[in-house]
Amino acid sequence: MDISPWFNQFTNDMIITLLTGERSYTMAGYFNELSDDEKAERPSALVDETVKFVHAIRKHLMGLLIFQFVSPFLRHYFPYFKNKSDDIIQNIEFINQRMDAIIKRRRQEIENTPLDKPLQNDMLTSIITANTPRDINYNKINDKEVMRPMTDPELRGIIFDGIINGTDTTANTISFIIYYLAHYPDVKKKMLNEIDRIFQDDKTRPITENDIHNLKYCEAIVKEVSRIFSIVNSLPRCLEKPDEIGGYQWPAETIIRINIDAIHHNEEYWEEPDKFNPDRWIVEGFEPKKNSFIMFGGGLRVCPGRKLAMIELVCLMALLFRKYEIDLIDKEAPLKTESGVLTACTELLVEIKLRN
Ligand code: HEM
Repeated sequence: MDISPWFNQFTNDMIITLLTGERSYTMAGYFNELSDDEKAERPSALVDETVKFVHAIRKHLMGLLIFQFVSPFLRHYFPYFKNKSDDIIQNIEFINQRMDAIIKRRRQEIENTPLDKPLQNDMLTSIITANTPRDINYNKINDKEVMRPMTDPELRGIIFDGIINGTDTTANTISFIIYYLAHYPDVKKKMLNEIDRIFQDDKTRPITENDIHNLKYCEAIVKEVSRIFSIVNSLPRCLEKPDEIGGYQWPAETIIRINIDAIHHNEEYWEEPDKFNPDRWIVEGFEPKKNSFIMFGGGLRVCPGRKLAMIELVCLMALLFRKYEIDLIDKEAPLKTESGVLTACTELLVEIKLRN
């Protein structure tokens, strides 16, 4: 099977559920799309609804470019561009309506829950209740602007950012992990030893927080794959004031791109930078030099989903490999990727068997 689109559906469902507290069924939708006779045991209306929502988000991402690169004049007066941009605007209206309905429903649920009763554990609930009497930090800060509860468009923006940034990033990273494990059998063996030591023969028990702390080698693999093959290959920054970079003077407002790949492969920071070696991360006391490992960016705009992403990836590795044997169909085949804002895996043909 081509496992890469499955990872996309999985991380989509996962992030939507974590952020909004609503179940998402794009995996079921993808199963139904591929299978002629057997269908997923999920209510088809729910499946169709989530698939439509996720398609709309993808369409929005692709369509946004028209507002960046096509002038307002062309968008308003040339039917081809006008139809395209109207379509994208209609699409975002659909996304907003769907998000607003979720927010409204959750606000009502929160209002109907007595103050001493627990609420759902999802990000939407946390950000709706932030700066309200349910917030444990309520009244601790005096700044009125910081202390006001968030408006619906603000809530929508946060959830939307999370869905967009939290899907393809983790999905492609796990695809690259599978690829590297298939090419480095010693690393894979060491990883399986760690997983088997922790889970023994239990292939179904839920993962605990302790397990996550103990899956140190899995974490090292995630970091090493991301160092050697970072899915985000550069970071944009805008110079606030004139500055010297690379021996040249640049005026304020210059947009620069920080080359993550070059930093991750720089001999000044890494021993044998081109060698895939997860063990470097588990050497006692090892800490990468400041700003030399930036898979999640850095500074004020550092990825807010970095801890979640690590937990998700480590858990996914343990869940998959404690139960299944996964190998590439053709180890000689080059990794198929496409680079844009991030480097995406376009196909990963694997064979999956139950582990005995
Ligand atoms: C392996 C997975 C991930 C990678 C490699 C990754 C990487 C990045 C990078 C490089 C940035 C830019 C940081 C900067 O400019 O300094 C970023 C930003 C961001 N990420 Fe992630 N990310 C991952 C997962 C996630 C997840 C799971 C979420 C959501 C829960 C998320 C949400 C965001 C958001 C909202 C931003 C924008 C932050 C801002 O501009 O202030 N990311 N991510």
